[in-house]
Amino acid sequence: MNDRTRIGDRSWRLLPLALLTLGVAASLVVGCTSRDQTKQVPSSADTALIPDPAVGPRDVRALYARPVSEWPAFIVDNGVDAVELGPVPDVVFPEDNPYSETKADLGEQLFFDPRLSASNQMACASCHDPDLGWADGKTVSFGTDRLQLARNAPTALGAGHVAPLFWDGRAESLEALSAEVINNADELHGIGDDVAAKLDAIPEYRDAFVEVFGDGDNASPVTLDRIAKAIATFVRTINPGRSRFDRFVAGRYNVLTDQELRGLHVFRTRANCMNCHHGPLFTDNQLHTTGLHLYGRRGEDLGAFRVTGKDEDRGAFRTPTLRHIERTGPYMHHGLFESLEVTVRSYSGGNKVGRPRGKQLEDPGFPGMSPLIHELNLTDDEISDLVAFLGTLTEPHRRIEPPSLPAGLYKRE
Ligand code: HEC
Ligand code: HEC
Repeated sequence: MNDRTRIGDRSWRLLPLALLTLGVAASLVVGCTSRDQTKQVPSSADTALIPDPAVGPRDVRALYARPVSEWPAFIVDNGVDAVELGPVPDVVFPEDNPYSETKADLGEQLFFDPRLSASNQMACASCHDPDLGWADGKTVSFGTDRLQLARNAPTALGAGHVAPLFWDGRAESLEALSAEVINNADELHGIGDDVAAKLDAIPEYRDAFVEVFGDGDNASPVTLDRIAKAIATFVRTINPGRSRFDRFVAGRYNVLTDQELRGLHVFRTRANCMNCHHGPLFTDNQLHTTGLHLYGRRGEDLGAFRVTGKDEDRGAFRTPTLRHIERTGPYMHHGLFESLEVTVRSYSGGNKVGRPRGKQLEDPGFPGMSPLIHELNLTDDEISDLVAFLGTLTEPHRRIEPPSLPAGLYKRE
């Protein structure tokens, strides 16, 4: 496979092992420190931790232009086991689907290949477009036959660090997710075995599957399980970690502005964002009801409840990563928030839209609000500082060449 077919330079995913080990160790150390020292409950007794409006720009720089382990304590609610923000660690590849370069290359081709859909028109990359932050820029996605889906496409960037997957957390792994999407009538609408048979008839694919996975016990080396494994391997190589925030935590203290640092401080303290968006990926990988379920209204989506049927899951969604967030709008599972400012303003008001009023107060079906969401009453300055900080999580632009795809069998069925 020549260089043209690579996503950027793959070297950034395959840093020398030593470096990665160091990174993981460092983030573990950072994690432990924060766990031990910094869990705080905001209360009047802790006012020293709540940013004083009088803390000027220079003071914030003095607080943050130092190793992460020396940053001021972050503030989360009692009982929240939050991990400090920091550099993105290495992805862990599962034992039953270890990394190999040929597997990632095959997965990359499959990710971009519309022959995974029954119509031969939709690829994973149609909705997870590298030029659109590995999402699709739409409120909700369009599937086969331009059918509107119920939800917004989240970014695939960093998905190797996120589990469970999907807004409602219904997929345990990227392998399970890939197999489901291929079979999903609304998305790719390729019924699994048909896709396997279709790819098996393409000699270059057949050879690649044999090379990566061996002949296997099946009649064909191409199976849905193997397709899903290859795609999952590729997705695990799409990682964030080169944002200005990353350079800052690596010691390049001049890359963030005073305003961005004030936003970082608000994020970690007064705004309680780390109640849920914590750790290097800015997610706790947990389900929470943040009040955007539109209960009883057009577009109602009860999230994880639809999967588990458990009352506590009514209106619950998995915390999404905030990496590259500036480029992956519109926001939330329904894509109804068109900007980060609108999003932050909603949080500032305590996500009022999700709090029952009038008759809803007597409706036992109305989803409860997570106790971790507070009415924050942020000032306009704090809101713009927070938005500025979120912009530091943007990855640098890189031109991604789609891989060249094996020739053959390109027809409508
Ligand atoms: C028609 C558009 C569409 C196509 C095609 C599509 N996706 Fe998605 N993808 C979505 C939407 C919408 C969601 C959110 C669905 C949900 O949560 O219920 C999603 C969710 C995901 C997620 C979860 C991210 C997270 O944070 O939980 C990943 C990863 C993903 N898709 C990868 C893929 C892969 C791999 C393929 C190809 C096999 C694919 N997608 C094809 C629209 C699409
Ligand atoms: C109680 C946990 C919780 C807290 C606290 C929280 N979030 Fe979230 N956040 C979530 C969940 C869950 C979602 C997805 C909700 C949905 O789509 O319905 C989300 C979504 C988002 C999104 C949209 C992501 C996307 O890809 O569409 C942004 C941006 C965001 N949060 C920023 C923040 C900021 C900034 C704060 C602090 C002011 C914050 N969050 C506090 C849990 C939380």
